[in-house]
Amino acid sequence: MKSKLNWQQLFCDCKISIQAAIKHCLETMHEPQPDLGRGAGGDLMKPIDVAAENAIIETLQKSGVSFTLISEESGIKEVGSTPKDCYLCVDPIDGTTNLTHGLPFYCSSIAISDKPVLAAVYTGAVIDLVHDEIFSAYEGMGSYRDGRVIHTTNTQSLDEAVIGLDLNVYKAKMNLTIGAAFIENTKHTRHFGANALEVSYVAAGLTDAFVDLRNKIRTTDIAAGFLIAKEAGAIITDVDNKSINVPLDPKQTLNFIASANETLHKQLLGLIKS
Ligand code: IPD
Ligand code: CA
Repeated sequence: MKSKLNWQQLFCDCKISIQAAIKHCLETMHEPQPDLGRGAGGDLMKPIDVAAENAIIETLQKSGVSFTLISEESGIKEVGSTPKDCYLCVDPIDGTTNLTHGLPFYCSSIAISDKPVLAAVYTGAVIDLVHDEIFSAYEGMGSYRDGRVIHTTNTQSLDEAVIGLDLNVYKAKMNLTIGAAFIENTKHTRHFGANALEVSYVAAGLTDAFVDLRNKIRTTDIAAGFLIAKEAGAIITDVDNKSINVPLDPKQTLNFIASANETLHKQLLGLIKS
């Protein structure tokens, strides 16, 4: 059952508590960092990831809600007396590499569902911690950027399309010929380094698509971004043009193309076939 909480307010509260919690970590990022081992998603954990995750958990706990946390950092954790009430699929910091290098592009991603599967996500937020704004959506009610309605673009041709393209294939396999086809046939490609926020950029009409075919991105990174993009009008499928419904799990990975509209989506899929 969908929780009747005021999620918009809770996402705002999360933003404030994350920003307060990571302030000290940001100031000391240049100092040697303690070894915290690997998070549930497999990446090395930083104190700042843990601080952001704790801030999200504490904010939700204060609201009195019970939930099952599905996090890139501490994995699956039940909180409260009725933890199956709702599932919180979270990447506390998406774009940790940017953050540790001082590159100003990172966010927090929070998706809420009543079952631990991607298709059951009914609300979510991507919190841009650098520009201090929230991209959010509620199923059937559209998508918002700090309260203003957002829509995907109406760009119809690849020649005009600016697309996000994640070709970061360190320790992953990908047919780079396909990557080359995207670079050669679209107006511009971009990759800023925080896919949750980059999918939200498609929702807000800042880019025309985002493509990640590496089979490396985790559900914790994109569960909220998918709902935000879909509610804003985006078409999202996997490389075989199938709708995506995978378990929400820190280890679950996938590939996807998120396009501003159907016409563009067909053309982007066509590049893969060709
Ligand atoms: C990473 C970012 C990056 C993508 C990586 C992700 P993280 O998230 O989204 O753009 O290329 O695959 O892991 O590790 O900073 O949470
Ligand atoms: Ca992360």
